Amino acid sequence: MSYPMDLPPKDAVGTDTAQAQRPARFAGSGAKSYDARIRRLVPGYATLLDVIAPVLASRIGRGEASILISGAGTGAELSELAFQSTHWRFTAVDPSEDMLAIAGRRADMLGCLEQVDFHACALAGYSCRQPHDAALSILVAHFLPDDGEKAGYFKDLARSLKPGAPLVFADLGRLWEGADRPAYSRWVESVSPDPSAASATVDRIARDFHPVDEARLARLLDDAGFSPPQRLFQVFDFAGYLTVRR
Ligand SMILES: C[S@@+](CC[C@H](N)C(=O)[O-])C[C@H]1O[C@@H](n2cnc3c(N)ncnc32)[C@H](O)[C@@H]1O
Repeated sequence: MSYPMDLPPKDAVGTDTAQAQRPARFAGSGAKSYDARIRRLVPGYATLLDVIAPVLASRIGRGEASILISGAGTGAELSELAFQSTHWRFTAVDPSEDMLAIAGRRADMLGCLEQVDFHACALAGYSCRQPHDAALSILVAHFLPDDGEKAGYFKDLARSLKPGAPLVFADLGRLWEGADRPAYSRWVESVSPDPSAASATVDRIARDFHPVDEARLARLLDDAGFSPPQRLFQVFDFAGYLTVRR
């Protein structure tokens, strides 16, 4: 097991190059507040997490399997998956040491720490010894610009998987162009402790995220070596999909 995260959370952005290029939202206090913040940013986040484990279990069964969790963050997926099978092993990859430190403590509390290998790096910096049986990428790819970085990310997922292995991923997309922004804004207002900050949140998402429409998404996946994505979750422009490594 590699578990290099017994580090106190830092208030600065971490040292990893990929992390250094990202805003501080996943470092220091940004990591500490993440679990509360994400529920006020992604409508249906709890439901999204609920469906991941059954979808994976239906594909790979509950026997021995190795599951890559790219952008594992504070370990939300880990807590959903660890109860499915004690035979599943997890590789949690994330450039934020602070997020992974929380994931490590969570795995320890849940009693599944021994099932997890942690790698504090972006997916591009992770080289697997053996391709995995399944992968997750929840709310990660939408941060990557569609200038080659997003395509490279899906290719890195593909090279980390065995042929036939499922990938479950979710991101902000462009599904409901134009119509959803006021509705989403209303939703953020309704769940925010400071409704006046809601429009700033929505503006920040429009500025910082790099959503693509489903035609582009299918193309990126096809180029990377994945089957056409099947949508399994959607609220506003947030959507989750199942695809399979060809
Ligand atoms: C919105 S959080 C999602 C965390 C978790 N998957 C969840 O659903 O709660 C995005 C995470 O992706 C990580 N991340 C950003 N770029 C990444 C990359 N290129 N490879 C892997 N992880 C990345 C961030 O550090 C952050 O922890």
